[in-house]
Amino acid sequence: MNIDYSNLIFKENPNIKNNIIQIKDKLLKVNKENSNLTGWINYPNEITKDEINKINEYAKEIQNKSNVLVVIGIGGSYLGTKAIIDALDYSFDRKDRIEVIYAGMTISSSYLNDLVKYLENKTFTINYVSKSGTTIEPAIAFRILKNLLIKQHKDKFNEYIYVTTSNGTGNSYKEAIENNYKLLFIPDNIGGRYSCFTACGLLPVAVSNINIENILNGAKSATSDFINNDFNNNIALKYAYARNICYQNNKQIESLCVFSPRLKTLLSWWEQLFAESEGKNKKGLLPVGRLFSTDLHSIGQMIQDGPEILFETMLEVKEPLENITIPESNNNYDELDYLIGKDVHYINNQMLNATLSAHNQKGNVPVVLLSIDNLNDYNLGYLMETFMFSCAISAYNIIDDPFNQPAVNEYKNRMYKLLGKK
Ligand code: PA5
Repeated sequence: MNIDYSNLIFKENPNIKNNIIQIKDKLLKVNKENSNLTGWINYPNEITKDEINKINEYAKEIQNKSNVLVVIGIGGSYLGTKAIIDALDYSFDRKDRIEVIYAGMTISSSYLNDLVKYLENKTFTINYVSKSGTTIEPAIAFRILKNLLIKQHKDKFNEYIYVTTSNGTGNSYKEAIENNYKLLFIPDNIGGRYSCFTACGLLPVAVSNINIENILNGAKSATSDFINNDFNNNIALKYAYARNICYQNNKQIESLCVFSPRLKTLLSWWEQLFAESEGKNKKGLLPVGRLFSTDLHSIGQMIQDGPEILFETMLEVKEPLENITIPESNNNYDELDYLIGKDVHYINNQMLNATLSAHNQKGNVPVVLLSIDNLNDYNLGYLMETFMFSCAISAYNIIDDPFNQPAVNEYKNRMYKLLGKK
């Protein structure tokens, strides 16, 4: 992975750089003291072979007994999972593997009705993921789908439920023990949005036939580079630095731009990670994901020529895992003959280069360029762990606690009150 912030348009700032370097020490000290939710830093190295084997064994069980896995969760309890599966799995359905779908991230009655209809005549398994075990959106979906399982399997319904939650606390844990559901745990010192490399993300990812050890190896390597490398060779620190220069120069929005629909959910995961970590006390950069070319034909106009409130971070994937080239045609009405034999990925990357220079040189938009060699499991693990480090460092630079989300709790409490929860 690489970072290039030579298109920032702002001057380098040694004070910000020193701050960022010092915050790295603070983060590692907090982690050593175990005084905040930083368990994710060590977890890819600490997860045991037994835990990995158990996750893979449960994944095989689920594959053998069902056609559909419904992951029930919201926020950090499903976004990282979906980001990984969407990035590494095929864009369209293939009949040779189990389908993974999602619930519990909405209270939309039409979505839930559609879901029940969709599952009625299918053999499905639930992975109910909730660290607290009390979040209302997943709880509603779980109750509705559990009833469907009871209808389908009578007293054997519990064989189709896998729960991922905190160990020994919370309502989901109690229910799982009482009903003999299979259980996996999210460690107490890892918050939801940092939990994608725990069982929270790893079980559904393994069900999708993705190699979870390769992902963890990428995350481990990112951890080692973050801890051991100096600033000049430390992508997480440099990214935090570049973001902070933009923030200090009055940019209010960071737009992460990706160039493949497979990375669309990664945008949502990244938005949650940075928004919930940094957006406190009226501070922080609003993280907004964009999919190009799609969005170049809508919001691209505003990015280049609208108010100067944002900067862009572009995520380049250098090489494709599979090629597709421009074929010959019986005519040249589309005027594409000059591209015959060219790889479509090459054309996509030229679109990135053209967008970068148009937005930067013509629109005065600062651009940070992140690059990975290709979109494989290892590189995705590396990228996501690097984002987590950068996020924690960026957030610690402007607010006190990157790992809480008080505003999220506020809406929950008000909703409970409106609904009359005791
Ligand atoms: O990052 C977080 O901690 C939150 O977004 C949670 O993941 C989200 O609120 C879901 O919480 P829970 O897993 O307790 O249901």
